[in-house]
Amino acid sequence: MITNLKSWLIKESDYPRGMNDLDKVEFLLHYAILAPSSWNAQPWIFKLKKNTIELYHDISRIQSNRDPLGRENIISCGAALYNLLLSMRHFGFTADVTLLPDADKPDLLSRIVWKSYSKPGKDNKLFKSIQKRHSYRKPFSEEKISQDIIDLFIDVSKDRNTSFFPLTNNSIRLALAGMICEADKDLGSNKATRQEYASWIRSSARHGDGVPGYAFGLGPLEGILAPLTHKVFNYTDEFAHNDEALTASSTFLGLITTPEDNPYNWLEAGLSLQKLLLTATSNGIQASFLNQVVAVPELRSRLQSLLEISTYPQLLLRFGYPQEEEITPTPRRKLSEVAFEEED
Ligand SMILES: Cc1cc2nc3c(=O)[nH]c(=O)nc-3n(C[C@H](O)[C@H](O)[C@H](O)COP(=O)(O)O)c2cc1C
Repeated sequence: MITNLKSWLIKESDYPRGMNDLDKVEFLLHYAILAPSSWNAQPWIFKLKKNTIELYHDISRIQSNRDPLGRENIISCGAALYNLLLSMRHFGFTADVTLLPDADKPDLLSRIVWKSYSKPGKDNKLFKSIQKRHSYRKPFSEEKISQDIIDLFIDVSKDRNTSFFPLTNNSIRLALAGMICEADKDLGSNKATRQEYASWIRSSARHGDGVPGYAFGLGPLEGILAPLTHKVFNYTDEFAHNDEALTASSTFLGLITTPEDNPYNWLEAGLSLQKLLLTATSNGIQASFLNQVVAVPELRSRLQSLLEISTYPQLLLRFGYPQEEEITPTPRRKLSEVAFEEED
């Protein structure tokens, strides 16, 4: 097994029961880093001090052309925070969580003060889904998602200040497929954005971050060459038509929105996203992101008009039952690269 894929093999039996609480909490960060992140940039840093964990946004990992404000990175950190809190509950820790606790430190996204040791939580189904969730970019099987599950998705998204809009209407889906194609073309028309994409594409999982070619469905040779070919050639049309076809053939799309559009809301969107994805996974469903339409301001407003909503679109996803049982995961950086113990 390639070292960077080993993160996915973490076992509950590895939990350091005989060690002190700080070691235990540090162990739980292994689950936090399995969260999805834009371009698998893993833009998080965890600082551990006594009974406090601080979650920082690693701004060196912003994709400054596609996402200059780091909106998608902050959402990704919110997803990692969800995994951490879920794991803490699972292993019996209680946590006081403050989002954006210090106005003078905008990169400090959350302060988590873990207090006492209590009875382990009962959210086992979601916890056990952390290691089974993967982005699935291939066509889904034809099996439809039931109304009960759609209602469950709407319900779990209410915990935070976010809304989930299920998009099942055919004409809306086709309109969205066209808009996604437009968004890919708009983003890809900028050479700097294309180069930025290429800088996050990896030949294999030997790198601890970025997206390996196989995750886009490329064969072994194409995958190995992908970082180079994407630097040299312009694949915008191919991406655009592929995404358009995937969207048009997906029976179920969903949109997460927030009431405002600021870092606090982005963190909440990330927390909500991860709960939704784990709920999906625990029901045998996977998802992938069609977020380019939110990344282009003009298309983001058109999306609001199309759906007649005034809240802010944050994440557009497609959901379905995967055709394959085994999905090769994407790599993660070692915990020692993103988590540090600090003196007070
Ligand atoms: C906020 C956010 C935005 C994303 N946007 C896209 C996207 O537009 N297209 C895409 O294919 N994947 C997108 N992804 C998925 C990431 O590429 C994926 O999470 C990452 O490669 C790690 O792989 P995994 O989800 O299988 O663990 C996004 C993920 C997040 C959290």
